[in-house]
Amino acid sequence: MLVAGPAVGDAVAAPARPAAQTHVVTRTPPPPRRVVQGTAVRLDVLQRDQRYRDLFLDNYDAMTPENEMKMAFLQPRRGVFDFSRADELVAFAKEHHKAIHGHALVWGLQLPLWLIDHGLSDNLGLNLPPLSSPPLPAPLDTVDAGVNDLLTTLTGWDRDELLAIMRTHVDSVMRHFGDDVGEWDVVNEPLDENGNLQNNVWRRFIGPDYVEQALRTARAANPHAKLFINEYAVEGPSAKLEGLVRLVSDLKARKVPLDGVGLQYHTNLTGPWDEQTIETTMRRLAALGVEVEITEMDVGSTPLDGSPAQRATRQAQVYGDAARACNAVDACTRFTTWGFTDRFSWLGPAQLALPFDAQYRPKPAADAIRAAFADPSARSSRRLRHVLRPARTRRVGVRKASRAA
Ligand code: XIL
Repeated sequence: MLVAGPAVGDAVAAPARPAAQTHVVTRTPPPPRRVVQGTAVRLDVLQRDQRYRDLFLDNYDAMTPENEMKMAFLQPRRGVFDFSRADELVAFAKEHHKAIHGHALVWGLQLPLWLIDHGLSDNLGLNLPPLSSPPLPAPLDTVDAGVNDLLTTLTGWDRDELLAIMRTHVDSVMRHFGDDVGEWDVVNEPLDENGNLQNNVWRRFIGPDYVEQALRTARAANPHAKLFINEYAVEGPSAKLEGLVRLVSDLKARKVPLDGVGLQYHTNLTGPWDEQTIETTMRRLAALGVEVEITEMDVGSTPLDGSPAQRATRQAQVYGDAARACNAVDACTRFTTWGFTDRFSWLGPAQLALPFDAQYRPKPAADAIRAAFADPSARSSRRLRHVLRPARTRRVGVRKASRAA
């Protein structure tokens, strides 16, 4: 169903929502957990696969729509919103008392083609899928990114026009879902590997203040929703993490609305961080006055990493480290994996990246995550250790970092 949206720049009225679907399985709300357990979910699989649905319902408190709330899906033509698929997910989540993490309002990828080519395709009456959705395999993805870039550079945008488009998108989407979606990745992946703002279409044509503008628009659209910046490759020390700390500090200092930082933590067996490093990063961000979530964790591997059993054991350690770090930090409020079964990982089933295998059986990783969050003594014993050993290096590091920030 396509819903006619507001003209760009106009006041926004939320389109009507379809009635909730009926599903066989209904659950009563579970007792609240301090750290909400989430996963990315795909609507098409949820609709056709009851085991997938049950595994989600039995093991998770919250979902992040894996693609259904991205701009290419929600605004396929300029000013025309299609909420049908996202609405189905929201109705399902509500019916089963699951929370939703909205993903993602402003991002440089999975954009509709009309935004990339400045309306050229719309004017020609073409309703083409966006070039970068889904991303193509290498090396085609480089060609794809190059073509996207060229198109945007050739066609360009005027700052005011693109700013109005961004504001209208954030405003329309957030008002449409209202309090059914309690938190949003307002800005996704704003940084490049040096910690500067990525030169995406928003940064290029609006300017560096697009982040602030998006957050302010989001707060006005729904003052109850928690607003996040979501980023990858910032879980341990790096120029990118320094850039994130600078960005968050600057926004906070200028009272720009921002409630949380999402650490995606897509990782693998060659380069994971240990528990203390992740905990230090989380405390450093928390000291800036934001909540922290792990938002998209997965741990890929290949046969070069060992036998399937060895891979599963090492993977459990990596998941466990992140989960224990989150459990130890009060500001860490949600732990989300990017899918739950290897059968439907965005990395493909061969990377064995998720906590349940392709036959939906729990892997050691699932047990490691459960054990980490089932351990309420983790924090108190840590606190005690800190009291006994106040000069621990990582604590000193945290203090230094927050002073510098
Ligand atoms: C991925 C989805 O999992 C894929 O299905 C899609 O083809 C591409 O996007 N960081 C993000 C997510 O913020 O939106 C991405 O999701 C994974 C990387």
